Amino acid sequence: MAAKLIDGTAIAEAIQAEIAAEIVQLKAQYGLTPGLATVLVGNNHASQTYVRMKQRRCKKIGLHSIAPTLPADATQTQVEAVIHELNVDPAIHGILVQLPLPGHLDEEKILSQVSLAKDIDGFHPINIGKLAMKHRIPSFEPCTPAGIIELLDRTGIEIEGKEAVVLGRSNIVGLPVSMLLLKRNATVTICHSQTQNLPAVTRRADILIAAVGRTEMVKADWVKPGAVVIDVGSNSVDDPTAKRGYRLVGDVDFKAVKEVAGWITPSPGGVGPMTIAMLLKNTLLSAKRTAGILQ
Ligand code: GUN
Repeated sequence: MAAKLIDGTAIAEAIQAEIAAEIVQLKAQYGLTPGLATVLVGNNHASQTYVRMKQRRCKKIGLHSIAPTLPADATQTQVEAVIHELNVDPAIHGILVQLPLPGHLDEEKILSQVSLAKDIDGFHPINIGKLAMKHRIPSFEPCTPAGIIELLDRTGIEIEGKEAVVLGRSNIVGLPVSMLLLKRNATVTICHSQTQNLPAVTRRADILIAAVGRTEMVKADWVKPGAVVIDVGSNSVDDPTAKRGYRLVGDVDFKAVKEVAGWITPSPGGVGPMTIAMLLKNTLLSAKRTAGILQ
């Protein structure tokens, strides 16, 4: 294997240990326990799994957490009522609305009801707007994009001046990670379904972020030798030999690309654990602001 592995699980565990230590101190000094609410609407299997993992991790590091769950046919008014309750709940410092929401709900309106002070997912339209603008700082950065930047930083990978190519323009990953890379002075290209000659574009990348949700789409000849490859994909593939009947695979053909890249994240075990670590970090940050420790 030519590429060095970026071990997201190990880096996320180190961050979580730092957060756990801070929570102990916050409790002792201020009698304050950071609290997170994850709001889940409907029965999307992947969303249920993500929320369960987030809740489990909260418990593990001493964060207070609740998981309001609404049925798939919940009305706009019902979902907004839950958000309003959480906005005024002093035990809750962070509110996460798990996406995607069922199609009949107005996602933008729901996300805009989350208190800016508790928007630990960074998806409030004002926070996304600030993320997109020069010299503006959102109250929180979205967790997966922030986790990707943290992975690069903790691995000692320079971002400034580098050619970064992002595959995918989703509101959750592609678009916000492009904005964060731009804020760090990378030269950023965003690719999408209408991009012509994709491999020629991705081969320019010093840093290649794959966030399209297509199993092993990025091949070895799409990657510049020595490039940093970050795989955000988590695609379910049928596998009768696996215990659950399926396994998770990234957007990158890991086996082939690791022979060309300089650095590579596995999937699972790369970006995924970092998303949760950033969620906990943002909730801690919010609680510290409440306690007046930070602005
Ligand atoms: N769905 C997939 N990823 C995410 C995420 O990071 N936050 C939220 N709220 N929903 C998601």
